[in-house]
Amino acid sequence: MSITEQQQPLPIAPALAEGGLAALFTAPDGAKAFAVRWQGEVYGYLNQCPHAGGPLDFEGQVLESSGRFLMCARHGAIFEPDTGKCVGGPCRGARLTPVAVHAKADGSVWPGAAG
Ligand code: FES
Repeated sequence: MSITEQQQPLPIAPALAEGGLAALFTAPDGAKAFAVRWQGEVYGYLNQCPHAGGPLDFEGQVLESSGRFLMCARHGAIFEPDTGKCVGGPCRGARLTPVAVHAKADGSVWPGAAG
């Protein structure tokens, strides 16, 4: 899966593999964001770590090696993929900022809530 960076009304990604690279995109307000598929669901967050504000990803990688958590590439904070809550590292207890995304039946991932 390649990294994509697109704006509405195009899809964020034609598909997202479970446990694969995140799709990087620009949120409607211009902020950098990512979408990732985890346990069958697609989640979106601002690509901004609550610790030092930097991007979480390293070349689109946001899941740590076990696939259980999102991990910031800067200082190793780990986050629950479904809630964005930091459960380890320098910003424990803080949360990623969610960005609404949804997947269609064909697997493509789009910005905004399903409608
Ligand atoms: S910037 Fe993410 S853990 Fe420090």
